[in-house]
Amino acid sequence: MASTTLRTHRCGALSRADVGSKVRLGGWIHRRRDLGGIVFLDLRDRDGLVQLACNPLWTPAAALTLAASVGVESVVLVEGEVTLRDEPGRDPKLASREVEVRVSRLRMVGAAATPAIPVARREGEELAAEELRLQYRVLDLRRPELQANLIMRHHLLQRARRTLSDLGFLEIETPILTKPTPEGARDFLVPSRVHPGECYALPQSPQIYKQLLMMSGFDRYFQIARCFRDEDLRADRQPEFTQIDLEASFVAEADVLAVVEAVLRDQWAEAGHLVAVPFPHLTHREAMERFGIDKPDLRFGLEITDLSDRVGPGAAPFVHDALPRNGRLRGIVAEDTALSRKEIDSLADAAKSAGAGGLLWARFEDAGWEGQGVKAFGPELLAQTVVPSGAMLLAVVGADAMTSPALHAVRTRLAQRPGIIFPGRHAFAWIVDFPLFEQDQSTGEWVFTHHPFTSPHPDDIEFLETEPWRCRALHYDAVYNGNELGSGSIRITDPVIQATVFRFLGISAEEQRNRFGFLLDALASGAPPHGGFALGFDRIAMLLAGASSLRDVIAFPKTTAARALFEGAPITVSAKDLAALHLRTLGKETG
Ligand code: AMO
Repeated sequence: MASTTLRTHRCGALSRADVGSKVRLGGWIHRRRDLGGIVFLDLRDRDGLVQLACNPLWTPAAALTLAASVGVESVVLVEGEVTLRDEPGRDPKLASREVEVRVSRLRMVGAAATPAIPVARREGEELAAEELRLQYRVLDLRRPELQANLIMRHHLLQRARRTLSDLGFLEIETPILTKPTPEGARDFLVPSRVHPGECYALPQSPQIYKQLLMMSGFDRYFQIARCFRDEDLRADRQPEFTQIDLEASFVAEADVLAVVEAVLRDQWAEAGHLVAVPFPHLTHREAMERFGIDKPDLRFGLEITDLSDRVGPGAAPFVHDALPRNGRLRGIVAEDTALSRKEIDSLADAAKSAGAGGLLWARFEDAGWEGQGVKAFGPELLAQTVVPSGAMLLAVVGADAMTSPALHAVRTRLAQRPGIIFPGRHAFAWIVDFPLFEQDQSTGEWVFTHHPFTSPHPDDIEFLETEPWRCRALHYDAVYNGNELGSGSIRITDPVIQATVFRFLGISAEEQRNRFGFLLDALASGAPPHGGFALGFDRIAMLLAGASSLRDVIAFPKTTAARALFEGAPITVSAKDLAALHLRTLGKETG
């Protein structure tokens, strides 16, 4: 397959089996070693490296001169014979390193300027700063690590298509220029030239369209969908990203979960890992109670316990006083950790940066409890807390909205200690029964937890009009080692319930018609029960590639400041172009 008019093989594909063959190769000069008259070049392509041996015994003088002067990262075409390498040069791990090519012809076809960042690194040499690497992305993408990541990404995508297609899902594309789809982020807007003052929105997800496809009778849909969200970025977020998006008709929650489990099992298998299905289930409430977060890392214990019931009259007043005011004393028992003062301070810092006033701690030794928190906890609590010698009790008092994130932060930091997480563990779980609405901590407004098309739990429908905050949703998340891989739900199919949800979210009847009239009409045109899911594909690729940022599995990613450094986007638009779009800016403008 690699064979073309210009070459017979890829460099990295050569092996012992090719010894004696005449080959033609094309690739990039990775390294050059000039031993004075004899030149060794490492030639690289997407399959790997092979050594080119240029020696006056078999290489013509002109080719030898070129070999001695060729710059790294230049592209050359080569002809020669494959021979076994001398013993010291062999690398038994790489088949192509067992052989070399004795060069009989060498031609420069793409000379390279001195590269701004190195592609081949010396042993132990650090990578260039990421900003610089993103600026010279074409060079950085030549690095074997990034090549391997993107090749893996390709295989994962093909596998997802195969899994879903085999399960009867149809791949259908939905529009990119569309109407806002609420997923909780801001929209990217595209002004219309032909309709002054009007804009398209780029989809935050194909959510509404995939539901419409169910109403059109396609029964099972999937799409490798590009989504756009103008939100604050972190290492696991990009303004444009890819979902493995799916929807199915005549399904209940269990059916959707089984499909997603099959997709994830196959994705992990593609990367060489066997994972067991079905995944364990945790309700949202249980996850928050035991782990303080809705995407718990289940590779280790260190669960959170409610200590409130153990608080006695001997506890400090600030602990006492917090309890009747919706507060709880919650903590983690860390056994066998032998934490130093510095480590305890670092745990306290973690709790504080997550909003806690401080971290209470006490250590149980043979002589009894000692430490900063002994007085605050009081004798009654400590007497009821039975732990092995050396164990520590770490606790926070206050409202759940504070203790949960604080203890999650403490738990996460504790797990960074060696021996807590066994490498190679795959801890998948389903988080189910999310609340339908949640309160925005900064504004106090009620907002949807997932999106406004998620069905209330049938047992909680009675609360929808009266106490909507008590409603659970048919919404489920897939989590893996503390990462949210994806979300989904069973959808509302009753237009009356859909309108009630919109009303609770403060969307007036008029706005409902304007924004979602087409969906409400479709729901009233014969809607099958349906539900679906979307997996964050970039996150899956990042985790399976062992990368620490989504940028390492996306060919041309944006920075955390949402800039494309290589091509230089976004751009300042000229006044003329803005005028064509009937726009004027308040910010920068160029003439
Ligand atoms: P949700 O908004 O939870 O659900 O998105 C699903 C998954 O997409 C990934 N994701 C992201 N990945 C990278 N960068 C981002 N900015 C980003 N935002 C989200 C996450 C997330 O779990 N329409 C619903 C799904 C449904 O109900 O079927 C949706 O989009 O991994």
